[in-house]
Amino acid sequence: MRSAQREATIVAMGLVIVASIVVVYLLNEPNRRETAAERQHETSVERGAESYVQFCVACHGPEGMAGEGRLGVPLNLPQNQSDDPVVGAEREEVIRLAIERGRGEIMPAWAISEGGPLNEEQVKDLVNLVREGAWDLTAELDIEASGGAPSTPPPAPTLDPDSDPGEALFGQNCVTCHVSNDYPNGGAVGPDLTGLGAMDETAQVGVEVNAEALSAWLHDPQAIKPGTAMPSAPSLGLDDEQIDQLVEYLLGLE
Ligand code: HEC
Ligand code: HEC
Repeated sequence: MRSAQREATIVAMGLVIVASIVVVYLLNEPNRRETAAERQHETSVERGAESYVQFCVACHGPEGMAGEGRLGVPLNLPQNQSDDPVVGAEREEVIRLAIERGRGEIMPAWAISEGGPLNEEQVKDLVNLVREGAWDLTAELDIEASGGAPSTPPPAPTLDPDSDPGEALFGQNCVTCHVSNDYPNGGAVGPDLTGLGAMDETAQVGVEVNAEALSAWLHDPQAIKPGTAMPSAPSLGLDDEQIDQLVEYLLGLE
């Protein structure tokens, strides 16, 4: 009898303990969800910072401050980080649209749907980065990527009216990412195009060195190499005639 009573007490105590654990667990559920969401947001910002250093740093600078001969505008503005629900939502939309579709003459379109290299998630990661303002992280990754010192801005585009049209177009649209014979200080996002016209058959990334293949590459690099960082010439605002002039320029690089 006694031992049956004891057993019942133990079972009852056990139930109380289990019930308490369940209650504590349920009460804590919102916190747990929050930390999982926070972690997800953090990794998204980190991925955004990596894309930023690859695609955006040339024009917007290691810390999003542009300036110093860079072609972009500052992104490290307080309003971009606004916590105000109305201002914040509006900035988020402006930033996303600028990245997806490009803006003006210089800022290229980056979304795959617009001929750019970035999928929806990668665009979202960049929006999160700009909204979060994690510029210490991009500065750190930039130094890592450029071998121990902050990257230097690409040369200003040349608008020399006497240079041949292909050369001028190259100076305006391509030097952020490429070096060529006429632009030894170009960026290093893409391969060095010095002497491209004299290369055998296929250049560094397998694009054939002839007018047809180069034109196809400039028109739609995503179709030839999905995921490439190279923006299509149409997404840079270039028309067929300008693409022909660029192809002629590239073939003339010896
Ligand atoms: C070739 C130079 C260039 C590159 C590369 C570039 N941008 Fe831009 N970006 C610009 C310029 C110039 C503007 C200003 C456009 C305008 O409003 O006329 C701009 C505008 C923006 C804006 C809008 C800012 C605002 O306050 O309205 C955002 C956001 C932006 N860029 C993000 C990015 C991101 C993210 C990347 C990388 C994926 C990137 N940009 C790559 C040149 C560039
Ligand atoms: C945002 C950076 C970026 C810009 C701007 C850019 N490119 Fe590129 N380009 C690349 C990258 C990256 C590659 C290498 C492709 C790959 O491996 O994904 C490339 C590859 C090429 C190649 C093939 C080279 C080879 O050796 O096979 C040519 C040609 C080329 N680009 C021409 C141009 C021209 C002309 C412009 C201007 C209209 C231009 N690019 C603008 C990033 C860029």
